[in-house]
Amino acid sequence: MAEEEVISPTRALVSSPRTDRPRQLAAAALSLSSPRAARAVLSAGKRFYKTDFYAVFPPPENPDIFTEIREDVHAQKKKVANVPYSLAAMRQLSPFIDDTIDLLASRLTEFCPAATGVMTPGGGVSGTARGGHVDLGAWLHYFAFDVLGEVAFSRSFGFLAAGLDVEHAIRTIDEMQRYNGIVGQIPEVDYLLRRNPLWKWVPALDPSNALITRIAIEEMDKRRPFGGEKSGLGGGDANDDVGMLGGAGGEGRRDLLASLIKGHLKEGSGFSEGDVFAVAHGAIFAGSDSTASTMQSFFHQVLSSPRVHASLTAEIEEAVRTGAIAAEGNVEWTEAQALPYFQACLKEAMRVRPAVGLNITRRVPPEGVEIEGQFFRGGTRVALNGWVLHRDRDVFGQDADIFRPERWLEDEEEARTMERYMFQFGGGSHVCIGRNLALLEINKVIPRLLRDFKFELMYPNRELKAKATFFVVQEGLEVYIEKKSSAKA
Ligand code: HEM
Repeated sequence: MAEEEVISPTRALVSSPRTDRPRQLAAAALSLSSPRAARAVLSAGKRFYKTDFYAVFPPPENPDIFTEIREDVHAQKKKVANVPYSLAAMRQLSPFIDDTIDLLASRLTEFCPAATGVMTPGGGVSGTARGGHVDLGAWLHYFAFDVLGEVAFSRSFGFLAAGLDVEHAIRTIDEMQRYNGIVGQIPEVDYLLRRNPLWKWVPALDPSNALITRIAIEEMDKRRPFGGEKSGLGGGDANDDVGMLGGAGGEGRRDLLASLIKGHLKEGSGFSEGDVFAVAHGAIFAGSDSTASTMQSFFHQVLSSPRVHASLTAEIEEAVRTGAIAAEGNVEWTEAQALPYFQACLKEAMRVRPAVGLNITRRVPPEGVEIEGQFFRGGTRVALNGWVLHRDRDVFGQDADIFRPERWLEDEEEARTMERYMFQFGGGSHVCIGRNLALLEINKVIPRLLRDFKFELMYPNRELKAKATFFVVQEGLEVYIEKKSSAKA
């Protein structure tokens, strides 16, 4: 590598000049900014395996799909988990996502002036000339968590009902992710800190005390012995597929936990009880901040641009008028797919502010590899970051730095090319397993909120506060809110 220069990871990502030349992060660690190179690294079968950065994420003794760095073991676990995460399986759980959306809409209605005219639950005064106000970002966060509770355990975590971060569960997860993100850069340090046996003697640091972990443990225990009615498998057959399942968890439904237990009964030690727990529990960690962050970015970007906001609102109003989307109640996945401008706004939000803020890291296969005319030695760590890759001007245009949804609608061929180089869900054998769920809930909830409420940023010139733990955790999406007179429910 000619002209190698050692610079810090942060500087490499934030301030590296536009160039396709890999930037050195440390000895044998390079940051790649070329989307084409990223595609080569993240393609299935290329044998760029995860680095030990991921092994820091707990529980190290029983890795889930995200934290498992042994590629063959990962493949085995992912095969089982792919079944309940399919779009078909997720759509079967749609009614429970719908209930959570109803609850979100009704909680947001409490902030609207006509509903109360007095103090709102968030402490904001409603009934002002501009409507009530609400920290929409926080409520989207509660929503993302409660959906995961329903999908994984047939049980809401209760954030929307309480209207707050119950037992500081969200903060706890963010703090853990912050630890993982920092210590993951030098994984050996984990042995001195969290993996140090002395930590077990400090109750506040015992993860089993945390709300989400406690609920996951309780739900596992409730369903024992596995295979009976209580596990959600009664009436089913260990070999049937998702479409024909009898019985289910919770109130008679087949949730993620029930499907994973079924996978365990079928695969035995190939997918152990520990794997059932780790995968169901890990879903909450991987799926909450990521989905919330994506929705927060969407709203902030759209509401920051009066032109985009007006076009999107017009598209939704027209769809209601023509009957393309329901005038009341929940919006279906297929209805949202028929809103091209909304889809363009969503892709554009995931392009300019992808939810993963830290590097996705992989190790070059032992024999080394040539990518775009450059040879990478075996064992070199390569780092990829959507915030850099998605701003490539060759792929996304000279105005790649700005939020302009129209770029997705101008030329079908170019849109297909841009789509190929989007990495908001990673890629290859480690592509996000929860993307169907995330997209399903986002496609259902955002058009409904835009149909039923008017939003306006309280601080139009203020950026969201963002910190990258692994995901980009954001704060500050405060809006004026008003119920539209046309909203029926
Ligand atoms: C918009 C929301 C989401 C975004 C942007 C997102 C993004 C990502 C990305 C970029 C990766 C790859 C990370 C890497 O290779 O280092 C990933 C992996 C993963 N995601 Fe998501 N995610 C989202 C939602 C979810 C949800 C809802 C779940 C689960 C309920 C989930 C579970 C996972 C898991 C288990 C992995 C590891 C997959 C593997 O290594 O095979 N994600 N996600």
